[in-house]
Amino acid sequence: MFFCNSGAEANEAALKIARKYSHDHYSESRTDIITTTNSFHGRTLGTVAATGQEKVRKGFEPILPGFTYVPYGDLGAMEQAMTEHTCAVLVEPIQGEGGIVIPPDGYLEGLRRMCDQRDVVLMFDEVQTGIGHTGHYFGYQHEGVAPDVMTLAKGLAGGLPIGAMMAKPHIAEALGPGTHGSTFGGNPVSCSAALAVLRTIEGEHLLQHVQEVGAHFVEGLRHLQKKYAFITDVRGRGLMVAAELDRPGGHMVVKAMERGYLINCTVDRVLRFLPPLIITRQEVDGLLATLDTIFAEE
Ligand SMILES: Cc1ncc(COP(=O)(O)O)c(C=O)c1O
Repeated sequence: MFFCNSGAEANEAALKIARKYSHDHYSESRTDIITTTNSFHGRTLGTVAATGQEKVRKGFEPILPGFTYVPYGDLGAMEQAMTEHTCAVLVEPIQGEGGIVIPPDGYLEGLRRMCDQRDVVLMFDEVQTGIGHTGHYFGYQHEGVAPDVMTLAKGLAGGLPIGAMMAKPHIAEALGPGTHGSTFGGNPVSCSAALAVLRTIEGEHLLQHVQEVGAHFVEGLRHLQKKYAFITDVRGRGLMVAAELDRPGGHMVVKAMERGYLINCTVDRVLRFLPPLIITRQEVDGLLATLDTIFAEE
């Protein structure tokens, strides 16, 4: 495990370890990394190259070469994109910025199989899905398929800056002492906060709580969907929840903020809810009642 200070930095370490592993074990030309369209992996030059969205790259060219983007959830497209130059696949177990996109059942398992056949490094970006937000510690646990490399940040230290990149031992060997580093990575304050977060998740049984409150939240949104036809889809896993609209939702975010709730709108039409793991049923009910008043104004 390599500690750093943010999600982007954790993903940079993942990109580097994949290339180094392939360089050490295969050839200097095995450098390509396949990611997915509408993904989000960070704002550094390496991670904007990995991000499959034109808008985050625009203006920052030349973009780091060696990245291919395929549609999320499409195993056929992934298989077709793999070549002898492919060294890694990087995906989010659920696309967060992309609009809480939950892949079809068997997607992660299919990726695992494809990567195993070629010794391509399978990397899961769990920066948004990790540390309990989906009701399991990690998003991949819903499919029971483990990656070779995983990245974490966001919730890991409950708001203090921390990132982590984890790799299986045979891949971790590729980043020996001196090959990568960070001055503040693994600093005692952030690490103590992360330990406190993990103790709280365990001690207060928050994973079960997230599953229960998340299901209650989705049920409440589905109820609103019956009332408002412009809500085209409601989906979620744990407390990663979305309501997709047939129209832009940015103004609803502003209205929610004026009424005391911080929500988000991604890809223009998806209201995204990522509340803290400790949110109560009563607080969810308060949000649902407020959303009802906002939707009624449409
Ligand atoms: C899936 C994913 N990866 C990476 C990042 C980047 O994390 P950070 O903002 O900590 O650099 C984010 C941030 O939204 C994210 O959602």
